Amino acid sequence: MASRYHDVYAGWQKDPQAFWAAAAREIDWIEPPKVVFDEKAGVYGHWFPDATCNTCFNAVDRHARGGRAAQNAIIYDSPVTGAKRAITYGELLDEVETLAAVLRDFNVGKGDRVIVYMPMVPEAVIGMLACARIGAIHSVVFGGFAARELATRIDDAKPKLILAASCGIEPGRVVHYKPLLDQAIEIAANKPLSVLLLQRKEGRCGMVAGRDHDWADTVASARASGQRAACVALKATDPLYVLYTSGTTGVPKGVVRDNGGHMVALKWSMKNLYGIEPGEVFWAASDIGWVVGHSYIVYGPLLHGATTILYEGKPVGTPDAGAFWRMIEEHRIVALFTAPTAFRAIKKEDSNAEFLKKYSTKSLRTLFLAGERADPDTVQWAERILRVPVIDHWWQTETGWCMVGNPVGLGQLPVKHGSPTVPMPGYDVRIVDESSRPVADGKMGSIVVKLPLPPGALPTLWQNDARMKESYLDEFPGYYKTADAGYRDADGYLYIMGRTDDIINVAGHRLSTGGMEEVLASHPDVAECAVIGIKDDLKGEAPCGFIVLKSGVTRPPEEIEKEIVQLVRNKIGPVAAFKIAVAVGRLPKTRSGKILRGTMKKIADHDEWSMPATVDDPAIFDEIGAALKHKGV
Ligand code: COA
Ligand code: AMP
Repeated sequence: MASRYHDVYAGWQKDPQAFWAAAAREIDWIEPPKVVFDEKAGVYGHWFPDATCNTCFNAVDRHARGGRAAQNAIIYDSPVTGAKRAITYGELLDEVETLAAVLRDFNVGKGDRVIVYMPMVPEAVIGMLACARIGAIHSVVFGGFAARELATRIDDAKPKLILAASCGIEPGRVVHYKPLLDQAIEIAANKPLSVLLLQRKEGRCGMVAGRDHDWADTVASARASGQRAACVALKATDPLYVLYTSGTTGVPKGVVRDNGGHMVALKWSMKNLYGIEPGEVFWAASDIGWVVGHSYIVYGPLLHGATTILYEGKPVGTPDAGAFWRMIEEHRIVALFTAPTAFRAIKKEDSNAEFLKKYSTKSLRTLFLAGERADPDTVQWAERILRVPVIDHWWQTETGWCMVGNPVGLGQLPVKHGSPTVPMPGYDVRIVDESSRPVADGKMGSIVVKLPLPPGALPTLWQNDARMKESYLDEFPGYYKTADAGYRDADGYLYIMGRTDDIINVAGHRLSTGGMEEVLASHPDVAECAVIGIKDDLKGEAPCGFIVLKSGVTRPPEEIEKEIVQLVRNKIGPVAAFKIAVAVGRLPKTRSGKILRGTMKKIADHDEWSMPATVDDPAIFDEIGAALKHKGV
């Protein structure tokens, strides 16, 4: 089938407002939009500024009432606990209406923030939808973050209520969330009024009297007294959620997602990008703590009337490298979306895909990859073993959905390994130099998107228009700065090669090396430090920290290195995967005092490098090389 992509993209270019007005007709509005885009509102404009709607209604009620009450909305499959549960749209409505009434009893209403600090359990999704129902703004915090990170988010979002669970389960260990939560509330300046706590039998926890409330008991009593909350009318531009993501400092950015534009974009993407029909089973193997989880575990599939999978497990070790194939067979999954690192993990354990022989994956039509660069080796391996198209696509927490991809629903374009293919309608992607001038095809430059961003992308940062402008809009006037670098080939295919800032991508998780440097610098024995991302066969990149000890420190450097590793784990969390700290005598710098991180990275990656002309003392690079060799890097 010839792809309709070029016609559809040209149609959007010709009349973007008509394009999004047509896409908006797929949504049930309370008051449909008369104005499609107001360029004068907000930081760079607002989509559907006069419309009213409710996201929960479109994700749940519409299907429960519209003939899908008996269809599975969520399939929860948890190899780490052995639990499995299917929840129909009818049951989901009942759960969400009841929990929304509970939230209301905690005096949570429109515009109030609710932090969700929970593992991959159905209650977490029900919690998000219940917030959406009553217009409360949820902010999900990934379970692998430490107390200090949670506290930063509490202080920025100032939640009235926290939805939490007693524990999460990682292979071989129970992660007790409650002590982390208590510590975070202790550190935070803004104390939440209440905590609704889901006790899990794998690790129960104590309750703080007056603040903590038992989830099961509270919901049961609301149900017994027949309490239910209806959907509240919200402006399309009202925030649905805030999701914090790494910025270039230790203070994360609160990415805001609105209600109306988000629904329109995600609904469009399910059919046209992912090629999914309502009623089919879609699996995003990510975590609800990340944007992929928000968009394609929770909202996208549910808005589309599909069945979504909530998987509490890993690609390997729960119990083996056949876990994904079992899931596909058992739940008749038609599309799987994950990060390349998951496939690298499977390939490492089972390179001949022996486990695949035990299962039938014939329901699977497409594998989608995102979150980090999809290396051609991994893509080819996945193509060979699964015999389905493997589609790389590029997006960010900020955009909420795909900027550059291969729209399977419009007719797949030829795949070129190493490229996520072409811009989606809504995205006018340019490759430019420092002065915003376009660069020639094949030449590397900064990747920017001409404003306005499409529906679904962030309208601003939480209560911080100034940081929104300064982070994304000031450097290339008229454009959104993605902070990725790359190039376009003569066929219009884009290649995303890496970040232009201090962000690194570890196992598909986005982390700031600047944030890690702040932690290293806080150690009393550290005079100076630098953190870089170095190549890692499994995780794509891994952080590597260099420390220079203060003069007069006599303790063995190995002891301090170990403390540094533990410090990052305690302050940022295990998700940082910070395992390599190297004490060195001095750091390589330019004569003006800038640390030469780029050359250090090349040395650590065993790439070719040349001596920077500006280096203060060339001998320092030999010292760095020797220190890394000593560490086995
Ligand atoms: N709660 C608490 N701790 C968590 C956690 C959570 N929700 N998620 C991860 N962690 C911990 C892990 O246990 C690990 O701790 P450790 O250092 O004690 O081993 C650490 O954080 C790093 O986790 P991770 O980066 O996931 O590495 P891993 O070695 O456990 O697993 C993969 C590697 C490739 C299997 C895993 O990263 C994966 O499944 N990735 C899939 C892709 C994905 O989810 N991408 C997200 C965006 S799409
Ligand atoms: P996050 O906000 O966590 O989704 O991370 C976004 C960043 O991950 C992007 O800015 C890219 O650097 C990287 N990224 C995401 N998807 C891809 C992809 N398909 N190819 C290359 N890099 C990607």
